[in-house]
Amino acid sequence: MEGNAVSQPSVLFVCLGNICRSPLAEAAFRAEAVKAGLAVTIDSAGTGSWHAGNPPDPRAQATALEHGIDISRYRARQVVEEDFTRFGQIYALDSQNLQDLKRMAPRRTLARVGLLMDLVPGREGQAVIDPYYGDEHDFAEAWEDVSQAARHLVAKMLR
Ligand code: 4NP
Repeated sequence: MEGNAVSQPSVLFVCLGNICRSPLAEAAFRAEAVKAGLAVTIDSAGTGSWHAGNPPDPRAQATALEHGIDISRYRARQVVEEDFTRFGQIYALDSQNLQDLKRMAPRRTLARVGLLMDLVPGREGQAVIDPYYGDEHDFAEAWEDVSQAARHLVAKMLR
């Protein structure tokens, strides 16, 4: 996928609640982009609205902090129609959210919408594990997945 419609590349990560997986993806990708000196607009959102306005799940905050990243000021929000024009690339954390995103997308959207793990060779079609009903090991696994995808996305954007 490539950015378009916007001058600076822009990436939006989308899960269901925007309190577990997509904030971790946002944090991991922001860290990798900074490390690579890549100027990019980055955000995350949820297809659902239940947690709008809330900070990330405390377990997600703890996981990011273990990797030196403070996400306590992130606030959940639902995907809005404007996201499909504000962001050149939109990545869903699993295929259900990908399906929902495609359903929410305006007909003439220029944003490229895809599955996050499709960025990782050998992991195509896979979901980032939803750790919401899991434990800290599931959060650690979700972090590994989003970090790997973040590294591949940065490499792709530098090409
Ligand atoms: P997320 O995790 O989509 O990774 O933020 C979830 C958060 C909330 C719920 C499910 C998953 N929930 O059912 O409220």
